[in-house]
Amino acid sequence: MEFPFDINQLFSERVTILDHTLVAGRKSAGRPDLQALITTVIDEIGRASAKAQQLTAPITSASKLQSQRHQVYLLKDGERNGGHGVVVGFLKVGCKKLFLLDRQGVHIEAEPLCVLDFYIAENVQRHGYGLELFDFMLQHKNLEPVLMAYDRPSIKFLSFLAKHYCLTQSVPQVNNFVVFEGFFPNRTAAQ
Ligand code: ACO
Repeated sequence: MEFPFDINQLFSERVTILDHTLVAGRKSAGRPDLQALITTVIDEIGRASAKAQQLTAPITSASKLQSQRHQVYLLKDGERNGGHGVVVGFLKVGCKKLFLLDRQGVHIEAEPLCVLDFYIAENVQRHGYGLELFDFMLQHKNLEPVLMAYDRPSIKFLSFLAKHYCLTQSVPQVNNFVVFEGFFPNRTAAQ
């Protein structure tokens, strides 16, 4: 996704982690002008994600990020757009208190890290960028994907999880979250 300003000036790293402060590294701290541009980027990619998932309203926006304890991992390609860079996509995660059913149908209260939104620009989907971003987040969080919960995953995302992480066997839930075989035993062992 191209923007009418220099993406490399806003985001110096290939992957930038944004939280409620909307600050991307030292550069944008105390710079309302740069934070306004970061707001534009987040709102735009949030809208693109909602459109791709045919949602009526974006799950991700700058104002939502400011008010929630979520994190957005934003991937850029700094070479494209004549060296101004493009935003390739983003992944939003956050911890949520969930009431889940284990394999025996017993209610379990847990607060796993959840994938809340995930989007790679249409023209570069299926090029491995989603995997790069997801792997970055897993390393940063030092977490296995089986220990995460997935909020209303799309068909494409379910296919992605099956292909890259062999997550195929989900445990039926009564809410919109999907968890996979391995979520409960590992969680118990970790406690
Ligand atoms: N149809 C089916 N599967 C797909 C598609 C597609 N159009 N695109 C990606 N995938 C899956 C497949 O398993 C694919 O492997 P294959 O090409 O061998 O079939 C694999 O993802 C490719 O992996 P990457 O290239 O690393 O994935 P990509 O960069 O495309 O990112 C993502 C995956 C984020 C799901 C992307 O396709 C996308 O943005 N889709 C539209 C928005 C969306 O559905 N987001 C998930 C919302 S649900 C949530 O966030 C909880």
